[in-house]
Amino acid sequence: MRFHPNPTLALAIAALLPCTAPAADLQPSGRFSLPTPTTALTPPMGWNPWNAFRTEVTEAKILAVADRLVASGLARRGYRYVNVDDGWWLRRRADGRIEVRTSMFPSAAMADGSTSLRPFVERLHAAGLKAGLYTDIGRNACSQIWDAKSPNLPAGTRAEREIGSHDFQAQDMRLIFGEWKFDYLKVDACGLADYVPAKAAVKSGQYRAFGPYIVRGDAERSDSAKVEALYASLKQAIDAARPGGDYVLSICSWGEARVADWAKQLGNTWRTSPDIRASWKSMLANFDSAASRPLYAGPGRWNDPDILQVGNGEFDAQHLVQARAHMSMWAIIGAPLILGMDLTTAPQSVIDIAGNPEVIAINQDAAGNQGVTVLRESDAQVVVKSLAQRGVKAVALINRGAGQLSVSVPLARLNLKPGAGANVHDVWSGATRRLAAERIAATLQPYETMLLVVKGSPALENSIFLSEMPARINVAEAGALPSGKRWVAAQANAAPSGAPLNIGGKVYDNGLGVMVNSRLEVRLDREFRRFLVMPGALDAGATGVRYRVFGDGRLLAEAGSARAAELVADVSGVQTLELVAEGPGSGSAVAWADARVER
Ligand code: GLA
Repeated sequence: MRFHPNPTLALAIAALLPCTAPAADLQPSGRFSLPTPTTALTPPMGWNPWNAFRTEVTEAKILAVADRLVASGLARRGYRYVNVDDGWWLRRRADGRIEVRTSMFPSAAMADGSTSLRPFVERLHAAGLKAGLYTDIGRNACSQIWDAKSPNLPAGTRAEREIGSHDFQAQDMRLIFGEWKFDYLKVDACGLADYVPAKAAVKSGQYRAFGPYIVRGDAERSDSAKVEALYASLKQAIDAARPGGDYVLSICSWGEARVADWAKQLGNTWRTSPDIRASWKSMLANFDSAASRPLYAGPGRWNDPDILQVGNGEFDAQHLVQARAHMSMWAIIGAPLILGMDLTTAPQSVIDIAGNPEVIAINQDAAGNQGVTVLRESDAQVVVKSLAQRGVKAVALINRGAGQLSVSVPLARLNLKPGAGANVHDVWSGATRRLAAERIAATLQPYETMLLVVKGSPALENSIFLSEMPARINVAEAGALPSGKRWVAAQANAAPSGAPLNIGGKVYDNGLGVMVNSRLEVRLDREFRRFLVMPGALDAGATGVRYRVFGDGRLLAEAGSARAAELVADVSGVQTLELVAEGPGSGSAVAWADARVER
């Protein structure tokens, strides 16, 4: 950058510049380029010991919880993955094989002196459950830095304490998936973030310096390409050890290193935020980190706001309103439902919340659409999830605050015909009513979320907005965000900044807000006849943008930004639609407003 005499102004200008030049590949791919999912077609469900036990993760405790999962009926309702988190390992032997801490996993002690988690996994499989394990993508684990006083940390020499997968990907994956037969792996990333040369535990020689490849909270100083490459080679190692893709890979880089841009190619779930605590504030922050990303999720790939805290702290049996709200929020955004309470002591009241079959059905709906926020005013938020059955919407009316609150949302905002009435079913109270009015209104208690299933008549007879089918969208090229802005590069029914879709003073309820130099892929599967859209600039910087619509790689329609005009394209027989917005104003935002397909 040129020297600027006014440093404040220079900084302000720098903040407006895009953080990266448009490296974007804006050429149409001609296909929906995410892998065809073979697993986690709906969000994974299960249990993880971290929130309840941290590193005190004994086999006895886990199996007791597994038994309760089965006996309580939760397993039958879908909670099938029983995971082990940090704390299971003892050391890495000289031949590279990891030894299990047998004081915690007695069944792992083999007659020949070696250790194996196979008996533990078989015990879970025999109960009709699936088994999950935990590792780190670096050389060391999170507990070794963050739970440094735990009695259950890896032991031995520095090399023996390097239990992370970094130099042992193939061997570890053969052990975990090939020999031990685990079905699920959570792969943490502290090994890439926390073992920096300046750390006392590294300076003292206790741990080997590594990276940092992830600088927490700073995507620009993180080496996202390196992080992505490590997870990609780990996935290859898993595929070699467990061919057929029948496993769940859960990426745990806490929303860092631009994980949303690449994890959908590799993992089935990826964390979008730091660890959840059992507090309302932390729960909301984690919810927001995933709720703003509906265009990134779909069958086989899910935003993960972390393990549930239902049953713990501010969501325990004394706080059932908050527990239901937390559960409703995870359900409506299609988050993995991984329970985190000690089920052996959990009262029936919280088990009933986790097990509510209608709430689970909303989360597990086959279409895999994440809920989209349609209203956000003071403490009120309304999130709408389009279910597989046409004209049926799950709706969460959320009170984020500590006071009573009235919420009201027009049926039209659900893209249901206002005059036609609707059936409204409250999944927590069980009540169903016929709605004659044109809007859904409710008074919410402090912290209450009302979760509804609304059946009405679709507002558009033969059409569907793209924002009603986010699971069919892939953000193939996100474009560059303005430096320092924590926006989401592609949003449904909002600009990347979160503001309404406002093109030249006209606000659109439906549409996609994206950055300049972006490319979206939309899976149409030859089901539609026409595509219609009103493209336009969302800010003054987005000038000279070309909006191009491709069908299976062929240019179907095109517009410049001189004058707003609707684009119409014939998409008969088209498998994949692509929307490309290209222009000089990198770091600016544009909209594909009213984007819809017609049968
Ligand atoms: C990190 C992860 C948590 C948990 C701990 C274990 O903090 O984000 O979910 O796995 O490590 O040490």
